[in-house]
Amino acid sequence: MEFKRNILVTGGAGFIGSHVVRLFVKKYPDCRIVNLDKLTYAGNLSNLRDVECCPNYVFVKADICDYGRMQEVFREYGIDGVIHLAAESHVDRSIRDPFTFARTNVLGTLSLLQAAKEAWEGAFEGKLFYHISTDEVYGALEFDGTLFTEETRYSPHSPYSASKAGSDHFVRAFHDTYGLPTLVTNCSNNYGPYQFPEKLIPLFINNIRHNKPLPVYGKGENVRDWLYVEDHARAIDLVFHRGKAGETYNIGGFNEWKNIDLIRVLVKTVDRLLGRPVGASEHLITYVADRAGHDLRYAIDSRKLQRELGWEPSLQFEEGIEKTVRWYLDNQAWLDEVTSGDYQKYYEKMYGNR
Ligand code: NAD
Ligand code: TYD
Repeated sequence: MEFKRNILVTGGAGFIGSHVVRLFVKKYPDCRIVNLDKLTYAGNLSNLRDVECCPNYVFVKADICDYGRMQEVFREYGIDGVIHLAAESHVDRSIRDPFTFARTNVLGTLSLLQAAKEAWEGAFEGKLFYHISTDEVYGALEFDGTLFTEETRYSPHSPYSASKAGSDHFVRAFHDTYGLPTLVTNCSNNYGPYQFPEKLIPLFINNIRHNKPLPVYGKGENVRDWLYVEDHARAIDLVFHRGKAGETYNIGGFNEWKNIDLIRVLVKTVDRLLGRPVGASEHLITYVADRAGHDLRYAIDSRKLQRELGWEPSLQFEEGIEKTVRWYLDNQAWLDEVTSGDYQKYYEKMYGNR
């Protein structure tokens, strides 16, 4: 079958990537979506069960750091657009193991950029390398109402954000030096179904359900700006199709929450949905030592994306949290699978031991 476009989505078996793959496979049946993922602990193909049989979906198990393999993938599938999400994504892990973050996030991105440049050399027209990044590259804000804009100076603090900043710089360097058509978006904290339960929201929902302690770092006063993952996926679709090469767009929901306030909302929602007296699980809140270098506040100004491309988040936070809590409570089997590591066996069953 001849496809109108061949779009490579890296990290498509992860949290945000699986929502992007699902959206694109369903919305663009005339385009082939090539999901390339190494399937680390965070990659789970069962996130994509509902689309894996679609004729426009292909899965490739590969490491983005393997430059030779990236060259082959560009050739084999005639890739003409890239949405690059593959990364190591958890700050706490980056504090314990910064090398893995530098390897995947910096060298892996460089390997993909080089493969794209080589495959598209002399014919950049109609091609796009779209890199998904984070607001954490901008550093931390005070409690002064300021927001990160596209002009905010980079000032990463954690090994994770430093590695993402490094990859963003390489993406822009390939645009400025070689003319590669690239785009970067920097998004705030995402939440929703299929997020690995090491991140705050799914971890705490699972712990509340099982009456386990809720480890709040420091005083719980750090602020994050939360966006429902499907709204991020819609923004990615919009930017991929209508964004201008060479540009940067910030994505965020104007939805700032102090961690402790958000945790109280989670406690109340889980209690209510489990039929417990509302607030009964508050005693699980346990203040623990703060994260090293813990950024105080993130908050995104996404007005450029709204103004230039007409994007708006569709979901109110209360609705998004209710949907998210319900999903995790209804999908305990998924949580059990990913916390036990059993999902790694799913790949072998589906695709053999390649
Ligand atoms: P995730 O950890 O859930 O998924 C990452 C995926 O990348 C996994 O499927 C993993 O198997 C794959 N991967 C890791 N190393 C790889 C390698 N070397 N080669 C190929 N695949 C590899 O992450 P996520 O939360 O879905 O984040 C996706 C992207 O969005 C990341 O680039 C992250 O920096 C960015 N981002 C995340 C958030 C957030 O709140 N989660 C916010 C803004 C930006
Ligand atoms: P996290 O979900 O790890 O995202 P990020 O660090 O990328 O923002 O954490 C969100 C916030 O919750 C952050 O301020 C750290 C805090 N946090 C806790 O207090 N306890 C936890 O167990 C975790 C995982 C996070």
